[in-house]
Amino acid sequence: METFDINVTDAISNGIDLETLKPEADKALETVLNATGAGNDFLGWVNLPQATIDSDLIEEITSVANVLRAECEAVVCIGIGGSYLGAKAVIEALKNQFVATKPEILFAGQNIGEDYLSELMDYLADKRFGIVVISKSGTTTEPAIAFRLLRAMLEQKVGREEAAKLTVAITDAKRGALRSLATDEGYATFVIDDNVGGRFSVLSPVGLLPIAIAGFNIRALLQGAADMQAICSKPGNPAQLYAMTRNALYRSGKKTEILVNYNPKLHFFGEWWKQLYGESEGKDHKGIFPAAVDNSTDLHSMGQWIQDGERTIFETVISVDQTARSLVIPSDDENLDGLNFIAGQHVDHVNKMAEIGTRLAHIDGGVPNLRIAISEINEYNLGQLIYFFEMSCGISGYMLGVNPFNQPGVEDYKRNMFALLAKPGYEAETEAIRARLAK
Ligand code: PA5
Repeated sequence: METFDINVTDAISNGIDLETLKPEADKALETVLNATGAGNDFLGWVNLPQATIDSDLIEEITSVANVLRAECEAVVCIGIGGSYLGAKAVIEALKNQFVATKPEILFAGQNIGEDYLSELMDYLADKRFGIVVISKSGTTTEPAIAFRLLRAMLEQKVGREEAAKLTVAITDAKRGALRSLATDEGYATFVIDDNVGGRFSVLSPVGLLPIAIAGFNIRALLQGAADMQAICSKPGNPAQLYAMTRNALYRSGKKTEILVNYNPKLHFFGEWWKQLYGESEGKDHKGIFPAAVDNSTDLHSMGQWIQDGERTIFETVISVDQTARSLVIPSDDENLDGLNFIAGQHVDHVNKMAEIGTRLAHIDGGVPNLRIAISEINEYNLGQLIYFFEMSCGISGYMLGVNPFNQPGVEDYKRNMFALLAKPGYEAETEAIRARLAK
């Protein structure tokens, strides 16, 4: 089979007419490629795979990764949102689910969990560990707290000079507290370009360094993305088809999209996708709500709602043709569990029948179904998928009529949190929020 395929036949059968949307999708593609739309100063991601991440940069990433691979039993990647989800998604998709990579990749700074951080520090106590701290702004509270704690721990463990050798910072070229700290301490650093937003940064050092440290092939990942970039630079491409279909469905009242996988390794790919689409499209009181499920697991929790709840949803299934491993269901003489009718079948055959059966049931139940198929889970195909979803997101956001590359709504909770914490500079807000809570 092809390594990538998109099929929207089962989504457009309900009187959805994609032809009329083609001019809009062509215009949106041009707007992305010619950088003529809102947020056009954040289009650096468009050329990451084919141009920006050149051989020299790949070499540099690989060589820094190799230092940490040689020196560390564990590497903690500190970051939140776009500064961690891409790496987490790719590593989880590629790694053995029950065996840690060498070095083990751990994540911190993606929450403010006191128990999480305490337990992580207990776990690291007897391990030689390194840190990759990732923050474009260099000022985000969650990763800053985690870095302060883990940096102190590492310095106490191995001394300040050695800790600096085991720490890498990925941040803005000049601005931000993390840049100043990295310069003062002499950390190895990589730059997040001004024109690459967090959720579009997985194919920059933000995602590539952790993925390389985990031992995966970043050249193959970039090659898949570069090949998809070539496909998506012409009209009539699959990213436009996806963007058109989801916008057509949204306009027909389908307000929620569920990204569905039938392979638990793709759970965090769904988390990455949710951030990409949620932060890009959910603005001006518009936007498809992005949700994700892991099937068949979630057929036993969310399945009822999807099949039979309010008819405002559609689904996009990521279908993986081949498994990496082979496992056949054995025959059993007593057959007490009644499973002999599938004895001799591969586990994945049953999974595929669950997938097909669910698709048909959902179509019958009024859930339009889009299907994106890849041949197997590997670096190349993940690179294709990542670029495909990023380009579709840009096109789709413009079709929706929003700026897909900003995230103004994210600031509101921060303002309240800083006011509640009495951060210097927030005195008036502190007074106001305390008065509001006292009422
Ligand atoms: O996509 C985005 O821009 C955000 O999710 C950011 O990645 C996230 O808020 C982390 O920001 P920073 O890298 O500045 O710490």
